[in-house]
Amino acid sequence: MSSSSSTPAKPRLRVGIAGLGRLGKRHAEALAFGNRHCQLVSACSPVPSELDWAREQLGVGRCHASFDTFLDDPELDAVVLVTPTSLHADQTMAALRAGKHVFVEKPLALNVEDCERVQAVAAEHPNQVAMVGFVRRFDPSYRRAAQRIEAGELGRPFLVRSQTCDQNDPEGFFVRFAPTSGGIFMDCSVHDIDLARWLLGRPKALRAFATGTIALHPGLAECQDVDNGLAIVEFEGGARAVFYASRTLPHGHETTTEVIGTAGTLQVGFGAHADRLELRSAAGVSHAVLPDFHARFEAAFQQEMAEFVAACRGERQLSLTLADATEATRIGLAITRSLRSGMPEAV
Ligand code: NAI
Repeated sequence: MSSSSSTPAKPRLRVGIAGLGRLGKRHAEALAFGNRHCQLVSACSPVPSELDWAREQLGVGRCHASFDTFLDDPELDAVVLVTPTSLHADQTMAALRAGKHVFVEKPLALNVEDCERVQAVAAEHPNQVAMVGFVRRFDPSYRRAAQRIEAGELGRPFLVRSQTCDQNDPEGFFVRFAPTSGGIFMDCSVHDIDLARWLLGRPKALRAFATGTIALHPGLAECQDVDNGLAIVEFEGGARAVFYASRTLPHGHETTTEVIGTAGTLQVGFGAHADRLELRSAAGVSHAVLPDFHARFEAAFQQEMAEFVAACRGERQLSLTLADATEATRIGLAITRSLRSGMPEAV
């Protein structure tokens, strides 16, 4: 075909990012340099040094201290929200109403009513993408696990045991983070909750029981939070899930999941290996350990953004829905209520 009759290339998606903290900076780099189908054109943060970083390191042209000004930009197609969790719902609704596609970090909101309000606004804007960042759904190992379950290799899966455990941060970043994060279960286990629903075929959750302890960070007590939490969730039809979340591992980050079925068991992530090198010596066997969630899920974060951009460009349908995010919040809240009441709580 001659070049004059070929289809013109689709313009790149024009994306803006709000929130340039711990994770926002990583998403911003991926949008600026990691995907040829989009361009990072604007950024928003109340912190001037974060905007300086976006301008100087990423070459972002339009930098805003105000979220309203950020949205009021006709040359912006999509926004990526990596802001404190307590802002997610309102910012998502404002962005949808401003005509933008939205990617928002997990959890969607810290109460079910806000999640449902976002779902209602999204339903009024059916041509815009609204996606929540449950990054593990984009991880190659978890995807293969889901495919093998789908293919029937586990028989009937009935139990998920899943943990999200971070290396201890003696500076206590998450203690400062606790007032807006929703607590350890809403912040960490919400990933495992979404995984359990996904891998068990989206059963309805009925009841939750949780307990926890403060091993190293007494400052969490002020927010009724813990640094090590355990939860059990019962689902309709007999499936069960057990979650463990920790902020205090001495050696590194360990996200692991086990799915147990009538015909087999699947394990994802055991060992926390940073790479494939092991040292065998008289002292024993040792290997380097993943330092944090980003090192573990770097490829998944890239894939997640690639699929968001593809969905905005009309090239891909997303299987992860806002309703999934609402259910994850609903279950996370029942677990958190149980942690505080000491009693099983209805979901
Ligand atoms: P952070 O506190 O490091 O960053 C928050 C950012 O939001 C900062 O840049 C802050 O200046 C900015 N900000 C505050 N108010 C704002 C406003 N009104 N408008 C625009 N920007 C505003 O927090 P972190 O760790 O980056 O977490 C952000 C979100 O990402 C949280 O919701 C968290 O749950 C989620 N997250 C998800 C992870 C995952 O595995 N998918 C991992 C880590 C965080």
